[in-house]
Parts: sequence; C-alpha cells; structure tokens
Amino acid sequence: MLGALGRIDKIRDVTRMLYYLTGMATERSAVLAYNLLHDGVREMGETAISDTVVAPIRRREPGHYAFYKMSSQGLAAQLAPRQRFLVRRLRTISFAPVGVNNDEQRADFGDLMLALGITDDPDSFAETIARVERELLWAREAGMKVPPYIVAGFRSAVEASRARAAN
Ligand SMILES: [Fe+2]
Repeated sequence: MLGALGRIDKIRDVTRMLYYLTGMATERSAVLAYNLLHDGVREMGETAISDTVVAPIRRREPGHYAFYKMSSQGLAAQLAPRQRFLVRRLRTISFAPVGVNNDEQRADFGDLMLALGITDDPDSFAETIARVERELLWAREAGMKVPPYIVAGFRSAVEASRARAAN
C-alpha cells in the first residue's frame, strides 16, 4: 500500500511538472505577444489604445510567467531521473503553442504569429520561450538551442496558416 501511494505521488509530480511547463510557455508567449502588440499599436499612432488597453494587460503577464517559472524550477530540482525522463517524453509528444488543440487553431496561431511579425524570426521566438525548459529538462544535450518539439510546434503553426490562406 505504501509503495502504491509512493507511485501515485511520483506520477502526480510528473503531471504537475507538465502543468508548470505549459503555464511557463503560455505566459512567456503572452509577454512577448503583448510587447509586440503594444509596439505595433503605438507605431500605428494609436497611443491611447496602447496606453489604456494593451499596457495594463501587458504589465500583468511577467508576474504570471514568474509564478510558473519558479514553480517549475522548484519542482524540477526534486524530480528523480525516471520522472524527468517521463516529463521529457510527454512534452515531446504533446507540446503545442498556446491554445492549439486542432488544425484550425494551429492555423489561427500561425495567423497571429504572422500578424505580430514573429515569423520574421520564429526560431529566436521559440528560443526565448523555451530557454528555462531547456535548462530544466535538456541540460545534458549539449548544443541544443531549443527543444525540437517547440521549434516544430511554431513552424507547423505558420505552415498551417499559409496553407489555409492559399486555399
Ligand atoms: Fe497571463
């Protein structure tokens, strides 16, 4: 019985870690997206909108990001190698950009990336989002700049957007 409870605890930590990593990627994306939106709206001369609408939302995002970052760093330090292995596998097969659960949403996210100009340099966008996750899960993979599933996730969003626009 004690053994079974111990296993449940270990699985629960894996699930929590996936939840924190997802939250961290989501909030980091939000920080970057609101920064780009803020600058874009200002460049259009809409300073009132950027100051009263975008800026207040933007100010909250770094705090959300910090929560998930600290939580994932704290939990990562407690994970056994076997748990870390599971987290890596599950991230690899399940990663998706924020709010993407199907092909339509994938194309929508690609539209957003194109609108915000993220597609000019998608790999550095992915790298910024994935930096802490790479340190926590993939530190032994020397030379890896971004976990490949994160690059692939953003690239496929842009491809889906372009394919939909071409139809
Ligand atoms: Fe947020």
